[in-house]
Amino acid sequence: MYRKVKLALKMLWFSLTGNIANKENDYDKASHSYDSIFSKEMGSYSIEVVTLLGISSGMAVLELACGTGHNTVAIAKLLNGKGKLSIVDQSDGMLLKARQKLIDYKDVVHDIYKGDMIDYLATMPSGSVDRVLCAWAICYTLPVKLLKEINRVLKPDGKVGIIETRPDSEKLLMTAFEKVILSNPSLLVKSIENYTFPENKQMLGHWFSKANFQSLNCWEGRKALHCETPKEMISWVIESGAASGYFDALDLTREDEIKALLEKAIKVEIENGGDSILYHTFVAGVASK
Ligand SMILES: C[S@@+](CC[C@H](N)C(=O)[O-])C[C@H]1O[C@@H](n2cnc3c(N)ncnc32)[C@H](O)[C@@H]1O
Repeated sequence: MYRKVKLALKMLWFSLTGNIANKENDYDKASHSYDSIFSKEMGSYSIEVVTLLGISSGMAVLELACGTGHNTVAIAKLLNGKGKLSIVDQSDGMLLKARQKLIDYKDVVHDIYKGDMIDYLATMPSGSVDRVLCAWAICYTLPVKLLKEINRVLKPDGKVGIIETRPDSEKLLMTAFEKVILSNPSLLVKSIENYTFPENKQMLGHWFSKANFQSLNCWEGRKALHCETPKEMISWVIESGAASGYFDALDLTREDEIKALLEKAIKVEIENGGDSILYHTFVAGVASK
């Protein structure tokens, strides 16, 4: 209990002094491996959302937090040479990969913006887009605020698609991570932001209705990741970008020590009857204006 209070105070001090982990550093690093690790395992679930959005040639489509452009290419193909595709992302590394993928789709690319998605939405006229997608990134914003802005920029028959990680994702690793930090608070050199992960499909439905959307379909899913050993699990969360905003909070001069402690803690969790498989869990939904 005492250790938890001490750690909370340390986090508070980091927050007050503006020493907060920068998730963009982690995403820039992960941008090289993101597609072969995260998109390979989870990309088909966001493509399902793209499909349900009913995008057709000639539409104006906005993709918020487009990352490496995995969904962007699918959207560009659906536009089939006619329409307006705008993309936004905060990470230079991720956006560079998206730009490279869009070389063959120049005829539909309308805008590529490097920056915050809420700032970008604020520059857009009301009722100007047909479809908006935000995949694996609503947790980084205030969800209802973001959805209200999306509602404003959508045309009257517009639709939005969201997919996001649930808070119980990679539970085995997160439990081990918390235990390592509690026992070794000096490893933490920055505060970790509080991300808003939807607990379940009801929560996403609630966000939609608070932003005046009508939910068409909300669902949940879980994918067992292809990692056998604790070492592979740690590599997965770092290289997939799933540890973004957490990894940058650590004293990376002690990276090897951190990884060894985590490996040991994961083994203990498994021995004590915890999950021996790493799952990525998520919530997704499509709503109309
Ligand atoms: C998990 S990745 C998802 C990328 C992509 N949407 C996909 O489905 O593969 C999250 C992305 O959100 C971006 N991001 C996080 N917060 C953001 C913000 N406030 N504004 C714009 N982009 C943001 C990150 O840079 C990263 O590329």
